Amino acid sequence: MADVKKIAVIDGDGIGPEVVAEALKVMKKTEEIFGYRFETEHGLFGGIAIDEKGTPLPQETLEMCKKSDAVLLGAVGGPKWDNNSKELRPETGLLAIRKELGLFSNIRPAVIFDCLKDASTLKPEVLEGTDLIVVRELTGGIYFGEKFRREGANGLEAVDTCVYNVMEIERIARQAFEIAQTRSKRLASVDKANVLETSRLWRETVIRISADYPDVELEHILVDNCAMQLLRRPSSFDVIVTENMFGDILSDEAAMLTGSIGMLSSASLGEGAFGLYEPVHGSAPDIAGQGISNPIATVLSVALMFRLTFGYHDAAEAIERAVKEVLDAGHRTGDIAVDKSKAIGTTAMGDLIVAAIRKNPK
Ligand code: IPM
Ligand code: MG
Repeated sequence: MADVKKIAVIDGDGIGPEVVAEALKVMKKTEEIFGYRFETEHGLFGGIAIDEKGTPLPQETLEMCKKSDAVLLGAVGGPKWDNNSKELRPETGLLAIRKELGLFSNIRPAVIFDCLKDASTLKPEVLEGTDLIVVRELTGGIYFGEKFRREGANGLEAVDTCVYNVMEIERIARQAFEIAQTRSKRLASVDKANVLETSRLWRETVIRISADYPDVELEHILVDNCAMQLLRRPSSFDVIVTENMFGDILSDEAAMLTGSIGMLSSASLGEGAFGLYEPVHGSAPDIAGQGISNPIATVLSVALMFRLTFGYHDAAEAIERAVKEVLDAGHRTGDIAVDKSKAIGTTAMGDLIVAAIRKNPK
């Protein structure tokens, strides 16, 4: 019997609870089929935590996450909290949980699903073969540097500082090289070394670390050029590593190449096996509560958790295969359906995936 893994579950806001419920059904099914065992505990986080506890990241939620082996997160945020002060914004909770849990690395795969090729706004021939991963540094840079306002010679000024130290760059670089080693052994490091001092340190450090990974072919690319090349030749990228803000922007761009943001999962990792897993999409307040959201990104986030945190590759494969089968059979939620009148709901999609999970491939 496998040992019991503790999963901290954060339903969050908007469609978060709906998509998480389907992912948990999938997780339950893998207990039954593969004999894995999970113990789940739910915690408040984001907008709902602001409403109920007066803070986006209550101490008890943070403690719950720290005691767990992995965190599954739905989505947070919504217009209701958009005009709140900084302390009372869901985004502030998101940055705090990343920092507090030491999740310095954010992994966002962007894969084109064959059966959804036409969902992208780009031409299918440009996208052909696109399968890339953005590895984004998540706890440093301008997001976490000192921020303040002051009176300058021309009136009010605002300052955001971007700071990176060598240790922060080294650890994310190593992780990216290691991921590249498991794939096609190509790594693109993205910076703005022609302008920014932090980028010059980034590039120097990545070059130094690359000596330990001679089997990986390293390319440096300036962020503006990278943004352009992602649209021009997306399939030429494999693993992209970059700093926090560039990664925020490029990972959204990469997600959109696929045309189906409702399908993409992500992992935030630290030094050990522990990780936080969440769909790339947001809380979609416009469709929340209608039972029409797409649970696939969250379901695939469970597969990513099984792979990266637990090493349960058999169950991860079974989930990914089930998703593919359900899509190949033509089932679609509204966001990815061509004929919207035939779209199915959130629980129907979850049920179909659960039903398609089997131990052995055909
Ligand atoms: C993301 C989001 C967050 C970020 C926001 C909501 C703070 O855009 O996870 O990419 O910028 O990191
Ligand atoms: Mg973002």
